Amino acid sequence: MPEEDVLQFTAKNGEKVTLRLAGCQDAEEIISVIKTNAPERSYVLMEHYGTKPEAIKNYICGMDFEKNLLIVAVTDTAVVGALSGIQMDSGKSPLTAHVLKIGLHLVSGYRGLGIGSQMLDFAIDWARKRAFKKLESNIFTTNKKSLHLFERVGFVEEGIRRNRVRIGNQFIDEVLLGKVL
Ligand SMILES: CC(C)(COP(=O)(O)OP(=O)(O)OC[C@H]1O[C@@H](n2cnc3c(N)ncnc32)[C@H](O)[C@@H]1OP(=O)(O)O)[C@@H](O)C(=O)NCCC(=O)NCCS
Repeated sequence: MPEEDVLQFTAKNGEKVTLRLAGCQDAEEIISVIKTNAPERSYVLMEHYGTKPEAIKNYICGMDFEKNLLIVAVTDTAVVGALSGIQMDSGKSPLTAHVLKIGLHLVSGYRGLGIGSQMLDFAIDWARKRAFKKLESNIFTTNKKSLHLFERVGFVEEGIRRNRVRIGNQFIDEVLLGKVL
């Protein structure tokens, strides 16, 4: 794997973490990371392809990795995080093909260790090199940590969708975030 596709660093708990581009071979582990996030309703892969592992696996294995991004964060023992960058409208419209939609998931034991920040920086770098012009993400207004993180790396709020998601009897607003590259 070319050097630019791998990044190693020490997380705040002292563990060595490797970020690398992922593919079909990582599908099972990515699904298990996403599944641990399911109650929080994380984005992109699940949003479009439901929660059924087989559907997500088929989707991952069918991705065009020239125009879509999958990164995993790996410790000595396991995949602990996954970031997806999905080209808007599957790249079919020249009007929106410059936009990459970001989803980020870490297993709960590995949050707050700086791994999400490193993954976002990695994704920004990857997108710039492929001439994407904009990153977007949708985040619940209740997800303060995620909002803080995305804003810290330069995303700005572009709007709010009121009552976008229903969880039980509660309706939750969603913030639309964007970063022009
Ligand atoms: C959101 C998520 C991706 C963040 O990744 P992470 O590795 O935990 O983030 P980091 O440790 O790099 O950074 C977290 C930042 O949030 C800050 N933070 C933590 N709790 C916070 C809170 N309640 N309110 C505001 N900021 C908070 C931290 O101080 C840190 O900021 P700093 O580096 O400026 O000090 C991760 O927690 C996660 O997977 N959550 C569940 C899934 C999800 O919500 N995904 C996002 C939707 S796409």
